[in-house]
Amino acid sequence: MNFILDTAKKAVPFSKENKISWRSPSNIALVKYWGKKENQIPANPSLSFTLSESYTETSVVYKEKDNNDFIKLEFRFEGKENKLFQQKIEAFLNRITQYFPFLTELKLVIDSRNSFPHSAGIASSASSMSALALCLCSIEKTHFGTLNTDNEFFTKASFIARLGSGSASRSVFPYAASWGEIIENPVSSNEYASPLPFELHPKFKHYRDSILIISKGTKKVSSTAGHSLMKGHPFAKQRFIQAKDNLKTLLKALEAGDEKIFIEIVENEALTLHGLMMSSNPGFILMQPNTLLVLYKIRVYREKTGVNLCFTLDAGPNVHLLYPDNESDAVEKFIRNELTQYCQDSFWIADRLGNGSVEI
Ligand code: DP6
Repeated sequence: MNFILDTAKKAVPFSKENKISWRSPSNIALVKYWGKKENQIPANPSLSFTLSESYTETSVVYKEKDNNDFIKLEFRFEGKENKLFQQKIEAFLNRITQYFPFLTELKLVIDSRNSFPHSAGIASSASSMSALALCLCSIEKTHFGTLNTDNEFFTKASFIARLGSGSASRSVFPYAASWGEIIENPVSSNEYASPLPFELHPKFKHYRDSILIISKGTKKVSSTAGHSLMKGHPFAKQRFIQAKDNLKTLLKALEAGDEKIFIEIVENEALTLHGLMMSSNPGFILMQPNTLLVLYKIRVYREKTGVNLCFTLDAGPNVHLLYPDNESDAVEKFIRNELTQYCQDSFWIADRLGNGSVEI
C-alpha cells in the first residue's frame, strides 16, 4: 500500500471549521516488542490483546489558515493547555507531513483525554498515538476521498500510529493484532499491524485483563531508551528468534483455544522482557518487591485452584492478570482478598478485550 497522499486530489475544501474525534484503546502485548531499528521498524514481531476500558479520546478541530509553510497547533490534555505534549505532537506531525501534506495548510486544535488517571502508571502512548492517527486518516478520507475501505483506512492509521509509538500500531484493531513480518500471516508487515489471520477462539474473546497498579510512578526508563538497550545486547540474536517462535506457538493456541500453552508463552514473554532489561548494560530492575510477591501468589493460586490465570508485565512494575470471563468471580475475589494489599492505594483497573477503536 502507498501511504503518500497526492494532494492534487482534494475533493472537499478545508474552508469551514470541522471536527473529528476518535476513541482508541490501549493494548497489552503478549509477545513483546523490545528492540527497534531505524524508522520505528521492530527488531521482532509482536502480538497484543486490544483493551476496552483503558482508552484515549482525541478530537481534532481544524480549519484552513493563510500561510502553509508550517504546522500550527494548539494541544490540550484533559482540557488544559500542555506545552510539553504540544511540542511532542508538533514534532510527530512534522515527521509525517509526507503522508499528510495537508497538515501545513491547517490550524489544528487537538484535545486529548484518557479514561485512566494520568498518574496510574499506565503508558498512554499506544492509545493516544493511535487515536490521533485515526483522526488524521479521517481528515484525509473526508477531504481527499481516499482510504475508502476499512482495510485501507485502518492500515494507514496503524502505519501512522507506529511512527508515533510502535505499540500504538496494534491498538486500532479489535481483540488482537500482530505487528511485524511473520510467515504465518502473508499480509503482515514491519510497517503496520494487522488483525490475526484467523478468528480468535471464543475462549479468548472475553478474556479479562485486571491491571494491578503496584506503583503509580512514571517510567524509570523511557521506551526509546529501553529499546536501544537491545542494540549490542548479548542475548539479542537469540531473543529475536525466541520472539518469532513464541509468536508462532501463541498463534496456534489462540486459534485452538489452548489456555495451557497460552499461559506458558505469555508468562515466558513477560519474564523474558524483564530478564532482558536486567541483563542490559546498564541493567534495570523495573519490578518492585510487590511485583514479585504478586507473581508468586498468582502461580501458587493457579496451582491450587486450576484456574486459567496468568500474568504479564510491561516495562514497569505493574502486573496484568489475564483470565477467562467465566472465572472472573473467583479471580476478582482473589485479587481483592490477596493482591490489592500490594497495589499502591489498593488501586487496580478492571479491563477486558475490546472492539478496538471507534469514531465518536
Ligand atoms: C514493553 O511502543 O512504548 O510495552 O516505539 O519507542 O514508542 P516506542 O515504544 P513502545 O514500546 C512498548 C514496549 C512494551 C512491549 C510492547 O508493547 O510490545
